[in-house]
Amino acid sequence: MTNTTTHLTANAANLLSEPEAGRIRAIKSRRWVLYPRAKQTLDRLEELLEHPRGTRMPSIAIYGDSGMGKTTIMKRFRDQHPPSFDRKSGVLKTPVLAMEMVSRPGERRFYGELLTLLGAPQAPRADIAQMEQAALRIMAAIGVKVLVIDEVHNIIAGTYREQRIVLNTLRFLSNRLQISLVCFGVNEAREAIGGDVQLTRRFEQITLGRWAANEDYETLVTSILRNTPLRNPSVLTLKSLRRILQITDGVTANIFQIINSIAIDAIENGNECITDSTVEKWMPTFDTDAAVA
Ligand SMILES: Nc1ncnc2c1ncn2[C@@H]1O[C@H](COP(=O)(O)OP(=O)(O)OP(=O)(O)O)[C@@H](O)[C@H]1O
Ligand SMILES: [Mg+2]
Repeated sequence: MTNTTTHLTANAANLLSEPEAGRIRAIKSRRWVLYPRAKQTLDRLEELLEHPRGTRMPSIAIYGDSGMGKTTIMKRFRDQHPPSFDRKSGVLKTPVLAMEMVSRPGERRFYGELLTLLGAPQAPRADIAQMEQAALRIMAAIGVKVLVIDEVHNIIAGTYREQRIVLNTLRFLSNRLQISLVCFGVNEAREAIGGDVQLTRRFEQITLGRWAANEDYETLVTSILRNTPLRNPSVLTLKSLRRILQITDGVTANIFQIINSIAIDAIENGNECITDSTVEKWMPTFDTDAAVA
């Protein structure tokens, strides 16, 4: 067992003083590992906050399959810009407001969700104009600069007419409040936003594609390993990297899951590192279950 911790980030190295159970808990509950593609995406979002207010605010749409890490990036962005108290105005400023697109959205349901998030739920019979005015007033007062919407593909569950209305609403909010929009969704969401030509023109598109056998993917795995509190350095050859890619279908969530699972085994059996042979032997849980059944 080595005593050096140069293979780890400072946070992971600090965890080495924890008992086994503590380290296992830390692995199971980890929320955020910074990898280059996530950093690039966050940097782009950051630029939106710095963009001067005006008509036609730039917006970003981020597409990727389920499990590619969209919501994790969204939460990170939101958490890095928490509400803060503005002494001058005496108001809690919220530069980043994050919501989830309601399922089968219409104008009423959309504003209903937005107002609940803003802490101003409306009576069920409130008319849409009132809801719209309330949302505009509150968002202006708390200084929203970026409205982030996750699960934006839910728009396409609506009828053609409902879809147009929701897209109009988004464009209206962006214009009126001079805010940027950030939309996250699975690939079908392209179709949803594509339904409004003016809106589409304003969106820069970022695609979080499945991981492939290249440097980006290797850096992802290295980033995860550096954040994994094992006492010994893990060295994986291309063969193991390829096996992980194959088992996980290149989906970020699965890659985290397999590395977490092997790391927990390595703590429990005292090896304290991930090796080619542990990757080779690792079987996805569902396969094991099927073998037992
Ligand atoms: N940067 C990260 N740091 C730590 N864990 C991550 C990270 N990105 C993804 N994960 C892991 O992958 C899981 C799935 O990620 P996430 O929920 O962000 O995907 P998604 O793209 O929003 O999927 P869906 O379209 O199904 O909502 C997370 O719960 C987490 O376990
Ligand atoms: Mg998600």
